Amino acid sequence: MELRNKTLEFLANHLRLETAEMADILEIPPRPELGDLSMPCFKFAKIMRKAPQAIAKEWAALLDGQADFLERVTAEGPYLNFYYRRSYFAENIFARAEAQPDKLISFEPIEPEGTILVEYSSPNIAKPFHVGHGFSTCLGDALAKMFSYRGYDVKRLNHFGDYGTQFGRLIYAWQHWGDEKALAEQPIKELTRVYVKFHEVAEEDESLYDAARKHFSRLEQGKEPELSLWEHFREMSLVEFQRIYERLDISFDSLNGEAFYSDMIPEVLDMLKQKGLLEESEGAEVVDLSEFDLNPCIMVKSDGSSIYATRDLAAVIYRDRTWDFYRNMYVVGREQAYHFKQIFAVLKRMGHPKADQCYHVAFGRISSGTEEFSTRHGKIILLEDFLDATYKKVLEIMSEGNFDMPESEREATAEAIAVASVKFFYLKSGREKDISFTWEDILDFNGDTAPYILYTYARARSILRKASDLDFSQAKVELLVSDAEFNLLKDLADLEPALEEALKLYEPSVLVRQILKLVKNFNRFYRESPIMKEEDADLRLARLALCELYTKELKLALSLLGIQVVERM
Ligand code: ARG
Repeated sequence: MELRNKTLEFLANHLRLETAEMADILEIPPRPELGDLSMPCFKFAKIMRKAPQAIAKEWAALLDGQADFLERVTAEGPYLNFYYRRSYFAENIFARAEAQPDKLISFEPIEPEGTILVEYSSPNIAKPFHVGHGFSTCLGDALAKMFSYRGYDVKRLNHFGDYGTQFGRLIYAWQHWGDEKALAEQPIKELTRVYVKFHEVAEEDESLYDAARKHFSRLEQGKEPELSLWEHFREMSLVEFQRIYERLDISFDSLNGEAFYSDMIPEVLDMLKQKGLLEESEGAEVVDLSEFDLNPCIMVKSDGSSIYATRDLAAVIYRDRTWDFYRNMYVVGREQAYHFKQIFAVLKRMGHPKADQCYHVAFGRISSGTEEFSTRHGKIILLEDFLDATYKKVLEIMSEGNFDMPESEREATAEAIAVASVKFFYLKSGREKDISFTWEDILDFNGDTAPYILYTYARARSILRKASDLDFSQAKVELLVSDAEFNLLKDLADLEPALEEALKLYEPSVLVRQILKLVKNFNRFYRESPIMKEEDADLRLARLALCELYTKELKLALSLLGIQVVERM
């Protein structure tokens, strides 16, 4: 059992407190000298008709020396302070780690409330996969991994932008200027090229818009050649996206794009009509949202076509029918916050039972403060360019430095570090912050970066390789009582609570912060405590066991963020 809970049990037994009085009774003291846990006594003053200081004194005398896992219980003003017996604490942590080897130390199983849908990535067909989609992809994958680790049934959804009037324009442009060979080589580049050309020419000749509209309505009716062209563009784009997903080691359970929902639109409009929610406004059909202080949500444009929002509404209804979700999460940029407010408000007006179970997990904008990218002012940064540039930098750093590795491993390792660095960069700040990246932020081997973390991991692994003949299960871990060892053990036990908090806020950065704290304390332990050079064989083995526990827990925690470690660096 966790020592915090043990302390609560101890208090309940000795002080005869009611469970209601026990909730949130224990705090983490602001300074380590004040113990590992403390209990303010103010709330007992009234019932006991005593000053909190007197209560603290009385209880300290009663409790001190009464529990084997507590070294001391003292009174400090109106507070009771509890100091763990460090040897007990170390044994407790190792025992808990061993009891659930595939979970973090403080993991406690829960009864999951239901299926969680995480929609993420969602790039647009024939359009660039930019660093914003990269953010959604990495953030969504981390959330999906963390929820499934907690025991939820998670479905990963990719809501491709594969529908809309722009496809009429693309078809027109392709038929006039397309180059099949270029499409085969770099599909998105070629499709973007003709799409841009369309707008240039249309500026001179407005009749192109009409022609494009005709193509789109033929596409909606499933006519040829529009349908086959659209399918071709979609397939070619997916091949390109798939390459990125493989590089990031990310996958999905459903690839239903916007087009998938187009068949459901008449039914959805019918539902709105039946509830009397559809109103005419300047030729369009809208749902009034004034009771939510929002602009009306357009459902049908004046030309009779559906829009992005209509398809999102259809998607919620489809998702609920298919998965009966407990939560439906959209990992989408903050600039779409208004759109999602409108969708959720329309659901409320429809009386949809899951209206309050939909969440927009928003994130900020990414820009660049690096030479490579800032010169391309105003241009979109492609995720692949970002990854390639990171890879190049890592390789450079590795060729300059003295890395413990055969030449042949270098490129694969650099790629692994680059992917980890990009993912970590996305996850480390609060997600709603706008971030401008510099190579320092991403790659500084001494900063809050993936290379820094992976390096401490690889270093610990290299120590362990030298001790591969030893049996850590025999280690006397009760010897791990120095400040550095104790703090490191505490940080290990705090990974799971950080993960819980991260899930509550849909904010992986909370877990990232705890990981960084852990890594810093590992470095302190490594600096302060000889390991292989320790002369006392028992202490040496105990420290090696701690190193091993560190690598196991760190690897697991990182994997929940979608980040893979490397064994050598
Ligand atoms: N395809 C959109 C974009 O690139 C994101 C889609 C977000 N998801 C949604 N259900 N609307 O901006």
